Parts: sequence; structure tokens; C-alpha cells
Amino acid sequence: MTEECRIGVIGAGNMGGALISGLVAAGHIRPAQLTATDLRDAVLQPLRQLGVRTSTQAEDAILGQQVVVLGVKPQSAPALFQLVKEHLRPDQILVSIMAGVNTAAIESQLEASVPVVRVMPQTLAQLGAAASGVCGGRHATPAQVDLVRAIFDQVGSTVLVGEYQMDAVTGLSGSGPAYIYTVIEALADGGVRMGLSREVALKLAAQTALGAARMVLESGQHPAILRDQVTSPGGTTIAGLHKLEEKGLRDALISAVQAATERSIQLGKP
Ligand SMILES: NC(=O)c1ccc[n+]([C@@H]2O[C@H](COP(=O)([O-])OP(=O)(O)OC[C@H]3O[C@@H](n4cnc5c(N)ncnc54)[C@H](OP(=O)(O)O)[C@@H]3O)[C@@H](O)[C@H]2O)c1
Repeated sequence: MTEECRIGVIGAGNMGGALISGLVAAGHIRPAQLTATDLRDAVLQPLRQLGVRTSTQAEDAILGQQVVVLGVKPQSAPALFQLVKEHLRPDQILVSIMAGVNTAAIESQLEASVPVVRVMPQTLAQLGAAASGVCGGRHATPAQVDLVRAIFDQVGSTVLVGEYQMDAVTGLSGSGPAYIYTVIEALADGGVRMGLSREVALKLAAQTALGAARMVLESGQHPAILRDQVTSPGGTTIAGLHKLEEKGLRDALISAVQAATERSIQLGKP
């Protein structure tokens, strides 16, 4: 599906750069199929070394591309819309990875029938481990949405959601890596508190998070069942879990997703 797809990225910063390097590492798309543009040559240089075509002219990421990814900050987008409108044709797909900007707002800046697909990815794309929420705009066909999902599936996995759910995706997986980094850091602090070296504690904490996440995804079992399987009566794990309940870990995480979702809604308002 993506073998011959030409993809242009406008804005190759943290997220755009992670997407491009992740796609190259995945190996299904050749570097020559990718064009990265950015105002700053410094962010383009490592991508050039991967064999990706680079330019400081945003139109190079539009002309001749099948998919154009808008990877700039929302506040930089208005300056680009005129250029995108001038060069983008209805047989191309505009993918926006901008947080909090809905497809209708983007469509209103473009020619009437240009297909827009919105994606909320993660910089974990650079490791092939991103969770991305995807939704199609008014003019995007299911086949066009599928093509965009096929691209982002190469750097992790995607879920198709309604646009009204994109703020919740932002609150959960968009902001989620930071929550998990905090959990890993706190677990490691616990290990250090109990006498482990920082290096050993961090390794144990991070590998535990990775393994538990893989177990949930690969076993298909509900996490509560997996937790029961490792919780012996009267044992150490139930003592730790009891403390987590007492301190409100679940409540803290649910509240974090809620607060981040509400902030995303707020940021998306004109
Ligand atoms: N970072 C994340 O974890 C993450 C996750 C999901 C979604 N996103 C979304 O991804 C987008 C980019 O975020 P980011 O963190 O990657 O920001 P970033 O690191 O600042 O990258 C954006 C890049 O776009 C460049 N740029 C601005 N105007 C441009 C133009 N007219 N033509 C070409 N390049 C231009 C910027 O250059 P200057 O610095 O010179 O302006 C910058 O290098 C945002 O909309 C954000 O909501 C980010």
C-alpha cells in the first residue's frame, strides 16, 4: 500500500523528525520516498544523512507528494495555509499531526475538496513504538484514511476514532509517555530508597513497564486478570497494591487523563 507512496513533511522538529526517522528505520518506505522540510537546516541534517530529501522550502514537501504531513506547531500553521492552498491538489492527502486543531478548521483554509486526515502520534515513532489516534475529515475517503493508518502503523500502531474523541486521545496517549516516564522514575526511586543503585533500579523499573505493556498487548488479557495472576495471597505484591490503593494511584492517573483532555479542548478553542 505504501511501497511507492511519496510523503512530504512540513516541520521536521521533534515529532516530524521522529516520524521520518521511524519510517526509515522500519524499512518499508525507502528514504528517497520521503521529503522533509523545515525552516531550520539543523533539524534536517540528520535526516539528510539517512538519505531523506530535505529542503528549507515548504513547497518541496507538497509538490509531487501523495501525502503531505503538517508537522508544525499550531501557531505556525496560519502562515503556511496560503502556500498549502496554492499547491495542494485534491488527489493529495493532507495529514495534520497538530494537537487541538480540528479538521474543519484546516478544511476551511483549503480548497473545497482537499482530503484532510488528523493524527495524534507520539515521538515514540522514532522507535517504531508510537500509539496514534487517527480520524478522517469531511473529504477523506476510507481508502485515504487507511493509507494514512498504514503509514503510521509502520512506526507503531494506530486506532481509528471519531474526531470528537481526539481530545481524549491527546489526554491519554498524546500526553501518556510523560505519565509513564514519571511512573518509571518513581518506581526507580523506590528501588533506590530500598538500597538499589540508580542504574539497577532504573533498568528494573523500565524493563518491568515494557514487559507488562507487552503482556497486556500480546496476551489480550484484561490487566486485572494479569494482576491477579501475579498476586499471591498474603504476599508481597498485595502489600504493595494495598499501598497504591491507599495513596490513590488510579485516581491520580484517571484525573491526569481528564485534566489533559480538558486542556486539549481549551487549547482547541479559537
Ligand atoms: N512533540 C510531541 O510529542 C508531539 C506529539 C504529538 C503531536 N505533536 C504535534 O506535532 C507538531 C510539532 O510539534 P514538535 O514538538 O515537533 O514541534 P517542534 O519541535 O517545534 O517542530 C516544529 C518544526 O516546524 C518548523 N516550522 C515552523 N514553521 C515552518 C514552516 N513554515 N515551514 C517549515 N517548517 C516550519 C519549526 O521551526 P522553528 O522552530 O524555526 O519555528 C520546527 O523546527 C505540533 O503541532 C504538536 O502539536 C507533537
